[in-house]
Amino acid sequence: MSPFSLSFLLLPLALFLVLGAHPIAAQPPAPSPSSNANDLIYTACEEANHKDFCIHVLKSDRNSPTADIKGLAYIVLRLAEKNATATSLFIKQKLNSLGQIKSDLIQQSLMDCADHYITASELVEDAISSLVSGIYNDASQLAKAAVADLDGCDAGIKEYKDSSPNALEVVNKNQLIRQLINTGLTIAHVAATAKAH
Ligand SMILES: *[C@@H]1O[C@H](CO)[C@@H](O)[C@H](O)[C@H]1NC(C)=O
Repeated sequence: MSPFSLSFLLLPLALFLVLGAHPIAAQPPAPSPSSNANDLIYTACEEANHKDFCIHVLKSDRNSPTADIKGLAYIVLRLAEKNATATSLFIKQKLNSLGQIKSDLIQQSLMDCADHYITASELVEDAISSLVSGIYNDASQLAKAAVADLDGCDAGIKEYKDSSPNALEVVNKNQLIRQLINTGLTIAHVAATAKAH
């Protein structure tokens, strides 16, 4: 065996010993992707009225680390849409289980909210389509219209929140979804502004 082939055989062993003995040195000190993703989340949440909420929602979503700012706006608006659809179903189920006593004021407010929620869900869906197409002005108008529907529901139901757990649930959902939509809007604005530069 020539000295050359011996060193060739020993090289992997030597590398193993060196790398194995210094596992930290063996890792290239590349910036961790998650710290970059966090930076992007902070940038996206810059204009949010409720920054902590914005950051918390984005950090909790498993799609955030691979999203750009527009993608982060998409994530939040999709959560708003899913919550709106879920609330719409919740209201329908409650109305079904209550039966049809149209004179009941709480029930009337719930029916009113059911209508508002159908519209709000569609508007958020349309806002998302506009966002995806990069038409931020439309996305913003549609999302604001959705918030107006949530406000319409809220105005009718909030006086019953202390007397009806269903009303309280809807009031809480109104607040969460409004906050999600507004957060999504501010992120979309950051994305639109960043694009303009
Ligand atoms: C509603 O939004 C929250 C974020 O605030 C999210 O964690 C939750 O999964 C959403 N609910 C649905 C039904 O999508």
